[in-house]
Amino acid sequence: MKEFLKVAVDIAREAGAILREGFERPKTITYKGEVDLVTESDRRSEELVVSRLKKHFPDHGIVAEEGSGATARTRYCWHVDPLDGTTNFAHGYPCFAVSIGLVEDGKSIVGVVFNPVANELFTAVRGEGAFLNEERIRVSPVEKLANSLVATGFPTHLRKKSSNMEYYWQFTLRTHGVRRDGSAALDLCSVACGRFDAYWEFGLSSWDTAAGVLLVEEAGGTVSDLTGQPYHLGGPSLISSNGRIHVELQEVAASIAARVAKD
Ligand code: 2AM
Ligand code: CA
Repeated sequence: MKEFLKVAVDIAREAGAILREGFERPKTITYKGEVDLVTESDRRSEELVVSRLKKHFPDHGIVAEEGSGATARTRYCWHVDPLDGTTNFAHGYPCFAVSIGLVEDGKSIVGVVFNPVANELFTAVRGEGAFLNEERIRVSPVEKLANSLVATGFPTHLRKKSSNMEYYWQFTLRTHGVRRDGSAALDLCSVACGRFDAYWEFGLSSWDTAAGVLLVEEAGGTVSDLTGQPYHLGGPSLISSNGRIHVELQEVAASIAARVAKD
């Protein structure tokens, strides 16, 4: 497993250098959907990550956001977001990362998230803890939702039909605040290192979360779907927390879900 981690870290740093360089220059933006942006840097980063993974692990599957992966029925599959936080990147807001997760039988076993602007490298191997720049990290000690700082996100493809605004509002009333930072991978890492006490979102894909969920779990936190059932990669909803406020989060989410269903 150490070898998988080492290769993923080297690749994430190399991809991060591509993103860093692209961030300093004028960007060429194209659209995948009405407001779903892609930049030259998404593509260049993905090309690098996918080609390096194929070279090191020719027998592994790869699922990558911009579609250049090589999926196959394999024991190991890499889930890659070459640039998580593209909208931030395109607007010059320095909150984005490359995210690389290795999944075995549906479970993440290696996770690497690299923010090249802050030079923050988050890493985890299942059973071996979570790290930020090689220092061990743990989730926050906050015990009550009322004392928490939480985060959410709004994937662009769901912006017209998502009921998340209702969750956003209700959690705003019950916490110190709700942040919306635009990078699911970094939001999960922020839960892992205790900056956020919880994070939830709807409609994420496996490449957004494969690395980050392992970071949260290995930092001592809890990840589930909105109803408290196990989270499956690419599933419709995700809640992650320091564990201590998880039941409270779920209860509030359940009451909102019941209300939304009635409307
Ligand atoms: P992205 O920057 O790689 O697109 C926003 O809170 C989060 O949702 C980001 O991590 C963003 O990732 C992700 N996101 C945006 N559009 C998405 C889509 N169509 N499918 C899945 N995730 C998406
Ligand atoms: Ca992306």
